[in-house]
Amino acid sequence: MPNIAWLNGKFLPLEEATVSIEDRGFQFGDGIYEVIRVYGGKLFRFDEHLSRLAQSAQAISIPLTIEAKEWKAFIREGLERSTYSACKVYIQVTRGVAPREHLFPETTRPTIVMTFREMADLPTQLNQQGVSVITLPDLRWARCSIKSLNLLPNILAKQQANEAGAFEALFIKDGMVTEGTSSNVILVKDEAFLTPALSEQLLAGVTRQAVLELARNDGKVVEERPVKEEELKQADELFLIGTTIEVLPITKLNGASVGNGTPGEVTKQMREKFQALTQV
Ligand SMILES: Cc1ncc(COP(=O)(O)O)c(C=O)c1O
Repeated sequence: MPNIAWLNGKFLPLEEATVSIEDRGFQFGDGIYEVIRVYGGKLFRFDEHLSRLAQSAQAISIPLTIEAKEWKAFIREGLERSTYSACKVYIQVTRGVAPREHLFPETTRPTIVMTFREMADLPTQLNQQGVSVITLPDLRWARCSIKSLNLLPNILAKQQANEAGAFEALFIKDGMVTEGTSSNVILVKDEAFLTPALSEQLLAGVTRQAVLELARNDGKVVEERPVKEEELKQADELFLIGTTIEVLPITKLNGASVGNGTPGEVTKQMREKFQALTQV
């Protein structure tokens, strides 16, 4: 079975799934989303993703009436229909279809979409060699903890990074590191892990949570606090984390080598531990 979609309760081939041009997701980016990964047919950290979806919906006052059990049943069916054991499940909820007015429509129901696509691993070369990142000003709004569809500054920064030959851009707000365009970041200094503390200025990554848990269980020192841009330069190791990239070493920062310019040992060990966790 090819990639499939689920649209307001119905499964259909991805290319046949369409929504109205009056959908507020299309008109305003008025909605939220989640990306959940499936390893060996098993959803990774489903509850965490679902509760973040619910929090995002609540934060922008979109009523979500589907219960966790129902989501799980729909997703299970989607996985069975797709037959993919390595799958990326994308969930998007918008405020629904209504004539284009800024005010919330009174009777509109949310549009709920899911897609099920085969998940390919990142090219191994990226992990073996590590990736380059650049820093860019964080031009986003003040509520980046909401996983909103409004990704324009993220898209522009990712494109700028790509044009500069880098894999990702790290956002800097008032001299402090927030996160990547679609990732969180962790610094390693003297074997300790350091990452920007959760706030309205960054997404509470599910991978971030899992990696910090692994580090703590391993007896590592973990600091979650505001991180200055200069600290990136002083780090022994840096790595990106996120659902699709997992744990990805950074070996260049704004053109300069990180550590000795190859993926660090602590990062490599964490990558292995994380991958083992996804297979549990
Ligand atoms: C802005 C941003 N930060 C962080 C992350 C990482 O979050 P997660 O680990 O839940 O995928 C993402 C993932 O897409 C993101 O878009």
